This record gives sequence, structure tokens and C-alpha cells, in this order.
Amino acid sequence: MTIIVAKPGEVQFPKGMEGVIARETTKGYVDGQKGKLYYHGIPIEEIAEHSTYEEVFFLLMYDKLPTKDELSILEMRMRQYREIPDAVYDFIKSRAGGYNVHPMSILRTAVSMLAPFDDASEEQAAAEREAIKITSRMATITAAIGRVRRGLEPIHPRYELSHAANFLYMYLGEDQDDFMNRLMDVLLILHADHGCNASTFATLVVISTLADMYSAIVGGISALKGPLHGGANERAMAMLDEIGSEKDAEPWILNAIAKKKKIMGFGHRVYKAYDPRARILHSYAEEITKRAGTERWLNIASTIERVMIAKLGAKGIFPNVDFYSGTVMSSMGIERRLFTPIFATGRVAGWAAHAVEQLKDNRIYRPRFIYVGPVDASYTPIDER
Ligand code: ACO
Repeated sequence: MTIIVAKPGEVQFPKGMEGVIARETTKGYVDGQKGKLYYHGIPIEEIAEHSTYEEVFFLLMYDKLPTKDELSILEMRMRQYREIPDAVYDFIKSRAGGYNVHPMSILRTAVSMLAPFDDASEEQAAAEREAIKITSRMATITAAIGRVRRGLEPIHPRYELSHAANFLYMYLGEDQDDFMNRLMDVLLILHADHGCNASTFATLVVISTLADMYSAIVGGISALKGPLHGGANERAMAMLDEIGSEKDAEPWILNAIAKKKKIMGFGHRVYKAYDPRARILHSYAEEITKRAGTERWLNIASTIERVMIAKLGAKGIFPNVDFYSGTVMSSMGIERRLFTPIFATGRVAGWAAHAVEQLKDNRIYRPRFIYVGPVDASYTPIDER
């Protein structure tokens, strides 16, 4: 018999739906015990070394590595879709620089604004094309938000550049060298997909109602905004700034642990070992901090990592991707508040691929609650309360 009403705590269930299987997927998986991540079966380390964001997007969408022709067709489509309507630029210019306006709110609204400018946005059959459009355009929106936040005019996309190089060009205002462009590519690749995380699940819940792709991606952006998910990178960097110097790192972190504070950039629902994405970023962090003269951040971060693993490693608390992405992005000249929109600009590939997969054998998501409130209550008129 299904229990629908119970006393608080009477029915056991996994809080946060931990471990509940949402659906089958061919996109990728996380082996949290071994600290491994795979996109369609390929280890993330191999992908980060050899692939590009466009190729990873193809892999996630179509479950195979593309041939040269297939890749150049996808690259061409993504380039063609880069530009966004003037009204979206106007909105970004009018609000992104506002006091206390979070760029994720601007990104969420700007992606939503794209839909009414897209005649095909409501077509279920066009879901795949919509996914490519949105993935391409989110880079333009994120770069424009970053420009306006720095008091600068947005820069329009260039056709001939790769997705990552074009993003850096639009954001920083000039062409970057191969190392910077590669690092941007790696950042986007590492954030592209990660199992049934909160934002991917949010995307699936929305698309499972047969709402359009824009609505689904806006759902993903909304879930990613929170500090327990995408917002942790920003906070991890704020922590490094607050600590200020390597010599203060150990006492600061010991004090935070003693006060049972959650240290941003550590811990993970799935990984109980070192996050492989953090390891990849750590190796890039050494090079980029040397180039930028920001070794101080890496030194503070390394001390925090050493103390955290010594104190909490046995509990399965290790650095996650957000711990080193902040140091890397700051050293690239990217401001802290743009970290989560950049995370979204990478993760949109996974959201889109999972949404298209969901549509192939869709069933609307409908978990249920256990009711633990009063029963047999009656309505009391307002004057008698
Ligand atoms: N710092 C200190 N202690 C921690 C941390 C942390 N970052 N994370 C977990 N713990 C401790 C908890 O206090 C808890 O201790 P207890 O057993 O004594 O109560 C234990 O480890 C288990 O932690 P949970 O909270 O149950 O882990 P959960 O799976 O619910 O949460 C989460 C995972 C949200 C990522 C958590 O580790 C956290 O808040 N981390 C900081 C935020 C962060 O970095 N988020 C980014 C996640 S990755 C991503 O979204 C890309």
C-alpha cells in the first residue's frame, strides 16, 4: 500500500533524492568513488587533452565522435547562430551594469528573451536545432554581460573564430594567444556535462512537460545560479581573497573547519574522491598563474587543499571543479561574478543533449511528497483565528 500521509520522520526516503534514478542516459557518467568522469564512455582526461568544445557538443548530442565533415557542419551552424537580436543587447546594456544585479539573472532573462525572436522556438521537431542555437548564443550573451559590467560596449561575435576563442575575443576585446584559447576551450569542456546534477535535472523536468527548449534551458540556468551548485566558484575565489596570503591560509581554514563552515569548492554529492576536473584545472592553474603573476592565489589554494584533505579527506571531502576554476579564470582576466555564467555557457551542451534525449522517450517527471501536516483539519473563518 502506498503511504501518502505519515508522521514527520516516519517514512524513510533519500533526502535531496540522493541516489534516485531519474532515467537512462548515453551521455556520460560519474564514478564518484574512483574520481572518474566519462563523456559517452571516454575519460574526461583524454577529452580535455585532445578535443574541442564543439566536438564535445557533437559527442553529447549525437553519441559519437564526429567525422571531419560532421564537425565542420556543426561548427558552421554554431558560427551562423552566434549573433543575438538588438533588443537582447539593449536589455543587457540597460541592466547588466546595475548595482547588485547578478549576471546569472541577466543571463536567465536574456536567454528567455531569445525565444520570441525565434519563429521555431515552439516547434518540438526543431528541438535539436534550438539546442544548437542556444548553445551558440549563450557565449555571446555571457560575453556581452561581462563587457557591460566593466562599463564597456558589447562586442559582436566573429565568424572565423572557434567557440572558445570567439568568447574570449568578445569578452576581453582582443584576440588571445593559443594557450588562452585552449584554456578557455578546456574550461568549457570540463563544465559541459556531469550526470544528473541539479541543473540538468531541472532542465529535464521542464522539457518533460513538452515545454520548449528555451524554457528548459532557463530552468537549468536558474538551478545553476545557487551557491550550492554553480555559484560555489565565485565564493571559493572570494574566500582566497579574504584569506589574502599563504601564511594566513592554514589558521583561517582550521578556524572555519572548527566552526563547521562549508568550505566552497570542496565536497560533492557524487565524488567521494578527487574531482578529475579539479586535477586538470590545477595543472593549468600552475601555468596561467605564472603568466599572470597571480601565484599567490594558487599558493593559498594549495595550502587550503592540503589542510582540507588532512582534516576531511577521510570523510570524502576533496576539491571539486569550482575550487580551481576561480583561480584559473581570475588569472585569465575574468571577473569573479562572470564565473557562473561561464559555467552555464559550458554546461548548456549537457542540458541540451539530455533534453533532446529525454524527448526521444519522454514521460513527464512526477515524484511525490509524503504529507506530514495535520489531517482532518477544518476551515476556521478569519474572524475566529
Ligand atoms: N566543507 C566542509 N564540510 C563539508 C563540505 C565542505 N565544503 N561539504 C560537505 N561537508 C561535510 C558536511 O558538513 C557533512 O558533515 P557531517 O556528516 O558532519 O554533517 C558531510 O561532509 C556530508 O556533506 P553533505 O552536506 O551531506 O553533502 P551533500 O551531498 O548534501 O552536499 C555539496 C554536497 C552541496 C556540494 C556540499 O559538499 C557543499 O555544500 N559544498 C560546498 C559548495 C560547493 O563547492 N558546491 C559545488 C559543488 S560542485 C558543482 O556544483 C559544480
